[in-house]
Amino acid sequence: MKKRIAVYPGSFDPVTNGHIDIIRRACTFFDEVIVAVLANRSKTPIFTVEERLELLRQSIKGIKGARVDSFSGLLVEYMRKNDIRVAVRGLRAVSDLEYEFQLAHTNRTLNPDMETIFLMPGVNYVYLTSSTVREVASHGSMLSTYVPVPVAKALRRKFGGAQ
Ligand code: PNS
Repeated sequence: MKKRIAVYPGSFDPVTNGHIDIIRRACTFFDEVIVAVLANRSKTPIFTVEERLELLRQSIKGIKGARVDSFSGLLVEYMRKNDIRVAVRGLRAVSDLEYEFQLAHTNRTLNPDMETIFLMPGVNYVYLTSSTVREVASHGSMLSTYVPVPVAKALRRKFGGAQ
């Protein structure tokens, strides 16, 4: 039987426990979930692509079926090249909808054969974003309960500050 493969694309700067929650959920009904880090984003990230990939690798250890990759250019091209039809995105609250619909419909226009499916993270992660984590860490504080341990360590190395 053909493997059911999905891609979970994003910036992951850095990966949070909300992302990990989505990866776990996706892995329960896909054989393989490729967590794909966008490499050519115009905004300046705090972690390089290699750092984000390494933090993801460490954070998904033990999640069966999850693996990491990076991509540049259009998501639909990455999916076409890798013969993937489904993209997974997390949907936290109604405020995410407009942006997510825009992405999903643009991708569908570019490739009508692909589908975007949305998964809700656990309620603890509804207000969790990578940018909040970055903001708090840049002021020397830490949302340790909301990021995987390797990410908390990496943020401390980068910004210093409290546990
Ligand atoms: O974590 P993010 O920043 O919300 O993820 C956004 C991402 C990386 C999924 C999206 O920006 C993307 O797929 N970019 C690649 C370029 C692309 O395919 N654009 C077409 C849709 S507008």
